[in-house]
Amino acid sequence: MTRVFSGVKPTGHLTLGNYLGAMRRWAAVDQHRAESLFCIVDLHALTVRHDPARVRRLSRQAASLLLAAGLDPELCTVFVQSHVDEHARLSYLLECVATDGEMRRMIQYKEKAARERDRAGSVRLSLLTYPVLMAADILAYGTDEVPVGDDQAQHVELARDVAVRFNQRYGHTFAVPRATVRAVAARVMNLQDPASKMGKSDDVGPGIVYLLDEPDVARKKVMRAVTDSGRDVVYDRVERPGVANLLEILAACTGGDPAELSGGYQSYGALKKDAAEAVVEVLRPVRERHMELCADPGHVEAVLRDGAARARAMARPTVDAAYRAIGLLPPV
Ligand code: TYM
Repeated sequence: MTRVFSGVKPTGHLTLGNYLGAMRRWAAVDQHRAESLFCIVDLHALTVRHDPARVRRLSRQAASLLLAAGLDPELCTVFVQSHVDEHARLSYLLECVATDGEMRRMIQYKEKAARERDRAGSVRLSLLTYPVLMAADILAYGTDEVPVGDDQAQHVELARDVAVRFNQRYGHTFAVPRATVRAVAARVMNLQDPASKMGKSDDVGPGIVYLLDEPDVARKKVMRAVTDSGRDVVYDRVERPGVANLLEILAACTGGDPAELSGGYQSYGALKKDAAEAVVEVLRPVRERHMELCADPGHVEAVLRDGAARARAMARPTVDAAYRAIGLLPPV
């Protein structure tokens, strides 16, 4: 059976971008057709300046939102990365396979390093090695497919390269994964700045719709989205990024096609209105279910406990095999 792995990082409140680009498909498609694992990658949240209490809070909230978005623990495994030692164990071995040049070429490293440098011009070393830990997440489970938004495709490509290199040097150990990126909403853009991604770690802003925004707040954010200087509604990501973003959001929420949808609008106002309502309707059940889950924290905890036990059992044999293959003496 196909094995699917993906994750979210608890560095901020989850956004419409996370939902449309990734989570919704995990719930609607992946968990039904593949043996799937979905992980709250809290170790990755430590790669940038962080507040420990906030990371803990956001990790719990992310778990609850994954369930609220429709992940069903009967169908898939939901767990927290730091609860399964195999991720960190394997990450070190992969650091002995990946190179510093590969790390420095990563677009996200360059972007994040530019923001994170301290007075001495340094960043946390873990920010540089971030993609290796991500490769460990993926490879530990013999993952075939990694459903992600477009921004993670380069990291998954690196995981592929590392898997192939390890297998060539030390014998076949890892399945070689591939990213599966949706055609629509692969990169939901910031509503106030359609040249940049709607990212949860960015400052709280009117251009980011959070999954837990009140309906009125979400509606206003979409209604106030920056559009382009033209008047007619056409789907053109390069020339009309603001309108294209709204069309993609509408298409992703309603299951339509952005280019086809554009034909139905004479004005930006009408498009914004429909997009705003579509967003509110898509988020409504998630917010409601999240509220129910908040009233039952024991349930979420039980899901995470069970998920970690299942994940551990799945990762152990592969990581142990990697330890043997690379030349480490088995424990006596
Ligand atoms: P993260 O937490 O930034 O995002 C979680 C998922 O949401 C997608 N996404 C988006 N999709 C469309 N438009 C957007 N504006 C948008 N913003 C985020 C991301 O592509 C991602 O699929 N490094 C990863 C977490 C990770 C991981 C892994 C993922 C760690 N290990 C192993 C897959 C497999 C990250 O920071 O995702």
